[in-house]
Amino acid sequence: MQVYPHVEIDGQKRLVIGGIEASKLARKFGTPLYVYSEDAIVDRMREYVLTMRDLYPFGHVAYASKAYLTLRMAQLVAEEGLWLDVVSGGELFIAMKGGFPPERIIFHGNNKTFEELEMAVAAGVGRIVIDSLDEIKRIERVAAQKKRRQDVLLRLTPGIDAHTHKALATGEIDSKFGIPMHQNQHVQAALMVLQAPHLNFLGVHCHIGSQIFETAPFAMAVKTMLNFIFEFQKRTGILISELDLGGGLGVPYTEEEPELGVKPYLEVITSTLLSESERFGLPPLRLFVEPGRSIVAQAGVTLYRVGTVKELPNGTVVAAVDGGMADNPRPMLYGAKYRAILVTGGRDRSPRPVRIVGRNCEEGDTLIEEAWLPPLRPGDILAVLVTGAYQYSMSSNYNALPRPAVVHVRDGQALLVVEREKYADLILRQRLVTPVKSMNSTNAKSASF
Ligand SMILES: Cc1ncc(COP(=O)(O)O)c(C=O)c1O
Repeated sequence: MQVYPHVEIDGQKRLVIGGIEASKLARKFGTPLYVYSEDAIVDRMREYVLTMRDLYPFGHVAYASKAYLTLRMAQLVAEEGLWLDVVSGGELFIAMKGGFPPERIIFHGNNKTFEELEMAVAAGVGRIVIDSLDEIKRIERVAAQKKRRQDVLLRLTPGIDAHTHKALATGEIDSKFGIPMHQNQHVQAALMVLQAPHLNFLGVHCHIGSQIFETAPFAMAVKTMLNFIFEFQKRTGILISELDLGGGLGVPYTEEEPELGVKPYLEVITSTLLSESERFGLPPLRLFVEPGRSIVAQAGVTLYRVGTVKELPNGTVVAAVDGGMADNPRPMLYGAKYRAILVTGGRDRSPRPVRIVGRNCEEGDTLIEEAWLPPLRPGDILAVLVTGAYQYSMSSNYNALPRPAVVHVRDGQALLVVEREKYADLILRQRLVTPVKSMNSTNAKSASF
């Protein structure tokens, strides 16, 4: 039975990822373990690219690397011909080390440092997305210094409620991101960019939020942006030729959540774009979308080993696994819900409710409030599903827990993509320092400077 593409339960109720039994992966690489079906990632990238090509030949797909980025992921995205969205010097560094062509990189961020801008311009990134009025001057300065003319987009906040979690909504006027489409601030910004000699103003960007399951907010975003492009052309005679709509397609994490799907998502965007362009008499714009979560979320599974099982005085059964909020902070950050499957044993036990908790020192470190699973025993391997997006990339070393390894499965082969951290990695950048004890003030001065 297929649970998600390339994630299956076989006839003996064993979880199989990309043709390999999950329990074998846990045995070979240890737990906790992030496992990805590379075939599922590649299939989803192809679905995006081919659907876009069919619906709108002037469209491009950029993978939002914040969802999950490793050297191998950068390599895969490059091979599949997508663009790549990065938001920091670190993501840019990983992308380039993975061999990603800089001319297909879109550099984002609401507070890029001067050094990051220098790095991006020097690397020759395809687009820098300007997020504030301050940044216009900053990027102009860097581009002038480097004697480059940098292609830029302007990120605008269109004032759209995307009906998603508060922490995931970024299209509202008071968002920390972008320049509000409010009291002409966006018009002023566009005019400033046009006057900057080292900036090449190509287009506008908006990202209304993440985990969106309705089509209406996307259609509204296209209409709002096209209306601005039309008004701007009327006023200045200048045609804005690119529109980047960010990401945001929602992904179901549990069986109860709905699914919108790549095709209906792209259909609503491209059909609205075509009809609005025609209405305003605009030529077809170059379109970008930047999906992150919907490319990698369902391709990922996290494997844990159950350690302790307790029955609380109120009757709740609690099973603690060998990971938790350090490798998956989403339940604590957003109240995210997940589904778990027992990958070893338990075929003869009938399901009961159990709270799956982590091993971090926080009472709130619960991965799943109520999972229905066969009674768990120490040593059982649990798979938490749909953990491919914003887990590895958000992981931490809280409680000095070494980060798990990452394994990709492709064509029935397991590839170790990131090694499990060792205790020695935890202190790699630390120094054992001892203040110099001195008898006179001269020494004390030299010791402290
Ligand atoms: C500018 C931008 N583009 C794309 C994305 C990816 O969104 P998602 O993972 O929901 O597709 C984000 C997410 O925060 C974003 O901020």
